[in-house]
Amino acid sequence: MQNFTFQNRTKIVFGKGTEGQVGEEVKEYSDKILFLYGGGSIKEYGIYDRVMDSLDEAGVGVVELGGVQPNPRLSLVKEGIEVCRENGIEFILAVGGGSVIDTAKAISIGVPYEGDVWDFYSTDKAVEESLPIGTVLTIPAAGSESSPGSVITEEEGGYKRDVVDNELRPEFSILNPEFTYTLPKYQTASGAADIMAHVMERYFTHEEHVGLTDRLCEGTLRTVIANAPIALEEPENYEARAEITWASTVAHNDLLGTGRVEDWASHKIEHELSGMYDVTHGAGLAIVFPAWMEYVYEEDVERFAQFATRVWGKETNYYSLERTAREGIKALKDFFHDIGLLTSLEELDVEISDDDLREMANKCTEDGPVGNFVKLGADEVLEIYKIAR
Ligand code: NZQ
Ligand code: ZN
Repeated sequence: MQNFTFQNRTKIVFGKGTEGQVGEEVKEYSDKILFLYGGGSIKEYGIYDRVMDSLDEAGVGVVELGGVQPNPRLSLVKEGIEVCRENGIEFILAVGGGSVIDTAKAISIGVPYEGDVWDFYSTDKAVEESLPIGTVLTIPAAGSESSPGSVITEEEGGYKRDVVDNELRPEFSILNPEFTYTLPKYQTASGAADIMAHVMERYFTHEEHVGLTDRLCEGTLRTVIANAPIALEEPENYEARAEITWASTVAHNDLLGTGRVEDWASHKIEHELSGMYDVTHGAGLAIVFPAWMEYVYEEDVERFAQFATRVWGKETNYYSLERTAREGIKALKDFFHDIGLLTSLEELDVEISDDDLREMANKCTEDGPVGNFVKLGADEVLEIYKIAR
């Protein structure tokens, strides 16, 4: 196990009715805030009113900005920065999913910065200052509710890039699993795939003696595997929704990566897809991750066999660990298919030519090889896109 520092400042307030505490939480920071949200689901399903009531009760003044799209765009980030500056805003409340939260994070580092906020995403410019943010989560998926990351798309070039800095972790996140009852099946399934991907990016490591985090990873994966089908069948099953919601946070709050080298190639490979074709991130991962596995599993057959037996309950084939390893990959692929996700690029509703695959592979590796389990250059990434096809 490697040395590590683990610090996660985000206060999690979890459970039914917890949105009633948002006013008090916000009040600790400011009595005038930017209230940021997405395309309108929060208004349709009553979340907006419940959050507003709590803010009103606490005497918090609100400037609103809606319209954050999935795969959130840089243009709205810039608009948000202007709105905050014009109104002297010192705190941002994001009510929604990863896209809204990531936009809030981008605005929070853009407001005190004199240059172009895209600098943080396109160069290694360090974050020095930010406005504090809080979140009310409506979809368990990205883990942005306590992660140090923000992912934004520069829409003109189709570049989807991230910035990762502890400064970006929210001060608090309010997680009411009931808010997730209204998710379309496709978003529930895509969210489950993203949560699993966050765990697997950490699980596939060559680091030895990471027994505790291996078990935590396996437990988190098994929780999602057990509960996602229930949530799809019974959208208002509180216990299933609660398990998935907590898994979303645990999968990506950095605990599961402690002491080990993480991979992250599949995420980078997927971000090209969602940056260029506006594919839903989790749905893209359901296609890319098994393809990545097929390409790399021979590097450490034992670890993949462990994944097959401990996560999917496959029997270890002592004559052929390779066969066991492949059974695990197949089980993952079958699971994604069973929860209603696509498992190949061809099934996507977009035309992707050979040249497009090459362009994505080049863009993905512009700053050098991706991944750590196996370091992948443009040619290797292209092979993975071809397997995913
Ligand atoms: O915009 P509205 O109308 O709110 O609808 C949203 C959106 O269409 C809808 N939705 C959300 N909550 C709902 C709901 N519909 C009904 N009922 C509810 N309760 O779901 C759609 C997707 O929302 P989005 O915020 O895009 O989903 P998600 O949380 O999956 O976020 C995806 C984004 O996060 C990034 C992804 O790349 C992608 O851009 N990620 C961020 C990470 C981070 N910051 O740490 C890490 C991840 O790996 C990921 O890359
Ligand atoms: Zn993700």
